[in-house]
Amino acid sequence: MKKILFVTSEVYPLIKTGGLADVCSSLPKALTELGQDLRVILPKYPSLKTVGDVHFLCSLRIDNHLINIFETTIPDSSVIAWLVDCPDLFNTEGNPYLDAQGLPWANNAERFALFCRVAVEVAMDKVNRNWKPDIVHCNDWQSGLVPALLSLEKNRPKTVFTIHNMAYQGLFPVQSVYSLNLPGQLWNPNGLEFHGMLSFIKGGIAYSDRITTVSPTYALEIQTPAYGYGLEGLLAHRSDYLVGIINGIDTNEWNPDLDPHISQHYNVHSLHEKQHNKAELQRRVNLPVNNNVPLFGLISRLVEQKGIDMVIECLPDMVDLPMQLVLLGNGDKIFEQRLQNLARLYPDKIAINIVYDESLAHLIEAGADVFLMPSRFEPCGLNQMYSQRYGTIPIVRKTGGLADTVVDTLPESLANHSATGIIFKEAHAGALLEAIKRAMLLYSNHTTWQQMQINAMHRDFSWRSSAEQYLALYDSI
Ligand code: ADP
Ligand code: GLC
Repeated sequence: MKKILFVTSEVYPLIKTGGLADVCSSLPKALTELGQDLRVILPKYPSLKTVGDVHFLCSLRIDNHLINIFETTIPDSSVIAWLVDCPDLFNTEGNPYLDAQGLPWANNAERFALFCRVAVEVAMDKVNRNWKPDIVHCNDWQSGLVPALLSLEKNRPKTVFTIHNMAYQGLFPVQSVYSLNLPGQLWNPNGLEFHGMLSFIKGGIAYSDRITTVSPTYALEIQTPAYGYGLEGLLAHRSDYLVGIINGIDTNEWNPDLDPHISQHYNVHSLHEKQHNKAELQRRVNLPVNNNVPLFGLISRLVEQKGIDMVIECLPDMVDLPMQLVLLGNGDKIFEQRLQNLARLYPDKIAINIVYDESLAHLIEAGADVFLMPSRFEPCGLNQMYSQRYGTIPIVRKTGGLADTVVDTLPESLANHSATGIIFKEAHAGALLEAIKRAMLLYSNHTTWQQMQINAMHRDFSWRSSAEQYLALYDSI
């Protein structure tokens, strides 16, 4: 049994902006089920949605900040979560990283540097809890300074840094190095410095004992200039310590047979019941109730990563086809506006929901026939796995975790019952439209389509095997 301190800025359902929260909830649960002694540590944002008991654990002082640590559990689990409360810095409602205009909070460097320093104090048991982890497992840039700071400690725990997305690096002006009081040894081109800027993510990549990312394909991609954002050289240099472990999903949370967000449950033996969810979804988003046209779903942060521009470019052609689209997402204002304009033009075909709505997300997975995920890059991606579990056929671009989790429908994969989706290669609207047309053709053949749904629903996306890979990795350090 290992003691693991799991450091993250998001944990579902306490706080979530994307897949990071899902993974930082379901992986700790899976590791705990495998008998590990694990604590998750995250900031206590004002918008944190705790359930049940939250009690004071200890306090500490760093510079002029008084910090309290509270203890609770991840709701509906026995996993212990430690909440770092520093109201001086974490006093803003809403999104943990961005203000209402979508701009990063001006004091993000201070906020997450302090969070990292608290995690280090906890990791070294300087808070006297008589609990010192064997492994400190950090996630994304917000925890990137932890491996760097721990590298300066004697008798330190081993460190693992997981990259969920290279596009977010935590880059700040050089002045931050001084205002944050960071140890001078860390400030060099092989350390936290990145072209004259302070890079939080580099702290994780350069100083951790092992680096992981969330799919085998993305582990290779980030060692190339197209995906490495300037850190491909360092990642290639550390490739002996870098591994891609595919994310699992929470198969309790995402289960069409038990899902509390949908009224008609179904499974692979009662697939015909899925159409009731389709009708309910069409009613809910004001599209004509019609079981004969394929209903496309899309749930996403509306950012360039997700290929939303390609979808927007395709839409005028898509509406000429007998189809409907329901989209749920929020993000870049320009995408939000363009999508809403199109929905106004084609109200019988396109429903756009610019909100964050966990419940509608489940209904879309259950009610749609096809799921669109044309990402330009995708470290892992979760919705293509949720979709397959709900018998909703994903259309994905061949990148990152999408390439690793979807099997393209070709004569051979149809014959051996492995086909679960539609894959296209080039990142342009024409290629996406071709894939959409392929999906329409396959959909028109009921037997073929049903076989694809069954293949998809039989896939095992649970955490078991990936959680075991993390355990083996911890052991190998
Ligand atoms: P990323 O983390 O890059 O956003 P993932 O596919 O890993 O992508 O995870 C996205 C998660 O966020 C999924 O659980 C998805 O259902 C959820 N999600 C994204 N946007 C919304 C939204 N507007 N409403 C509800 N859930 C959303
Ligand atoms: C990031 C990635 C996404 C991945 C998620 C969880 O947000 O964009 O692909 O699934 O992290 O690892």
